[in-house]
Amino acid sequence: MFVLEYIKNPKVVGAIAPSSKHLAYKMIECINFKRAKCIVEFGPGTGVFSEKILSRVSEDTKVLLVEVNNEFYSNLNKIYGHKKNVIIINDSAENIDIILKKHNIEKVDYILSGLPFASLPREVSKIILTKTAGLLNDKGEFITFQYSLFKLELFKRYFSNINYKKEIRNLPPAYILRCKGGKK
Ligand SMILES: C[S@@+](CC[C@H](N)C(=O)[O-])C[C@H]1O[C@@H](n2cnc3c(N)ncnc32)[C@H](O)[C@@H]1O
Repeated sequence: MFVLEYIKNPKVVGAIAPSSKHLAYKMIECINFKRAKCIVEFGPGTGVFSEKILSRVSEDTKVLLVEVNNEFYSNLNKIYGHKKNVIIINDSAENIDIILKKHNIEKVDYILSGLPFASLPREVSKIILTKTAGLLNDKGEFITFQYSLFKLELFKRYFSNINYKKEIRNLPPAYILRCKGGKK
């Protein structure tokens, strides 16, 4: 499924295979699941990170999965559509402000991203990062992974505090970036 979707739209899918479970674990390890009221995931794909999030959250935590690809969306809907606290949206992360408003959500605790910023149009990245920084609450975090640190300077324009670590047990190895202090 992943390879096929990559062939159809390489710049949007951005990878030929889903992330490894090791990368998924590092993406979620800092989340305070007890305190989080709302977690958003951009670009869940086949749901490697979603699965980890949803196996840990309480039923009181709202989880929004925002996936632009129709096939991935349908698949996620089949797996998680029955869960009361999960909202699955077939739209671009560019519209996250409208999506949250529609669901009466003002601020978010965590935004996890699998988006391929390296291949997304610059304007699309700009819109998503501006809205992300503005929608996180004061202690909120934007957690993303990248295959290189090429886009670090871009993220620094939107977040004042960024730290990162590497996970080599992924193909290709990836950096996990924790971005705090969203610039409003
Ligand atoms: C590199 S894949 C990551 C998939 C999954 N998170 C993983 O790590 O295996 C990127 C995902 O982002 C989705 N995507 C790309 N642009 C998007 C956008 N503007 N809004 C929402 N999802 C998007 C793609 O369809 C794809 O599912």
